Amino acid sequence: MRKTYNFSAGPGVLPEPVLKQAQQDIWDIYGSGMGILELSHRGKEFDKITAETEAACRQVAGIPDDYAVFWMQGGATSQCYFVPANFLPADRTADYFQTGKWANDSIKEVPHYGTCHICGSSKDTNYDRIPAGGEVKYSENPVYVHFTANNTIMGTEFQAEPTPPKGAFLVCDASSNIFSKPIDVTRYGLIYAGAQKNLGPSGIVLVIARKDLIAKPVRELPTMMQFGKHAEEHGRFNTPPTFGVYLMGQVFKWILSEGGLKAMAARNAEKAKVIYDFLDSQDFFIPHARKNSRSNMNITFKCPTPELDKLFIEKAAGNGMRELKGHRMVGGMRASMYNAFPKEGATALVAFMKEFAHEHAKTTAAR
Ligand SMILES: Cc1ncc(COP(=O)(O)O)c(C=O)c1O
Repeated sequence: MRKTYNFSAGPGVLPEPVLKQAQQDIWDIYGSGMGILELSHRGKEFDKITAETEAACRQVAGIPDDYAVFWMQGGATSQCYFVPANFLPADRTADYFQTGKWANDSIKEVPHYGTCHICGSSKDTNYDRIPAGGEVKYSENPVYVHFTANNTIMGTEFQAEPTPPKGAFLVCDASSNIFSKPIDVTRYGLIYAGAQKNLGPSGIVLVIARKDLIAKPVRELPTMMQFGKHAEEHGRFNTPPTFGVYLMGQVFKWILSEGGLKAMAARNAEKAKVIYDFLDSQDFFIPHARKNSRSNMNITFKCPTPELDKLFIEKAAGNGMRELKGHRMVGGMRASMYNAFPKEGATALVAFMKEFAHEHAKTTAAR
């Protein structure tokens, strides 16, 4: 057992059995006398790893054959321009949900290629919610609709994927909630996710894409930017981050062994409920996300003052609860609890929050 509850927003906590297996496989994988970090990406051991990672991914999410599963480099951030570069002709529009920093990073890249229409925004309230109902206005004939399924910094999450207008397909940045719950891949044109939260180490991005959409980019592009080329080569157009491919495969197998995405969803909801129930029962800590937009992955809240936030973070670290500092766009605290994060960590955090509130509520009231 490790002594620390790691609430990092990413790179984040990984499953213990996966890390233990990786320790062994770094020394010797499949009895080959070679470690995973030392294998040729064209060798037969790595052929097996590539095939197993893809197969396990397909099994986890029930991904049909008309979808390609592959991986790329450059972080989720590079997908911000790969997506419009591949899909958006210069004279067309793509619709984007503006729900936080990562959505904005995507939005910024679109005008290099075509027109961007903001189809829903929560900027006016510092991204504390997912735009819904009458707030959502699609453009007339968008090529695709892009949304950030979980807003890691803000602590908000789409409770269901949006329904794009007829003729448009969905593109999703699922970096911080991929495989935290069941997903109907057939509702999407393309899904991308940086691995470093729910899937593995940083430096690798999982891409799941409808084969017909990525067959040919809408413009001339360098080969490294073409989704179709990476799909065709099964993520091995050039040397891939081999350890990342291996570790993602181990994480997919771990998800399957734990009961799959339904089990992940139940577990994640249970963990998040521990903290949300407490936040709703008191008036010391101030939650950031609105109730109908809350994330099960990242929970954001503040103390009544920035000084108390600082003290909370310091004292929590002293009690074995690390990486709770919120992003500067929100301030306060952020408790990230990805698939591999244990429920005991959520319970420990609530016990600490209760103690902290009890100790400091009076001093705050006296101000
Ligand atoms: C939702 C989301 N999108 C994109 C990114 C950017 O990922 P990367 O740093 O891998 O480029 C992050 C990083 O935390 C994220 O949480």
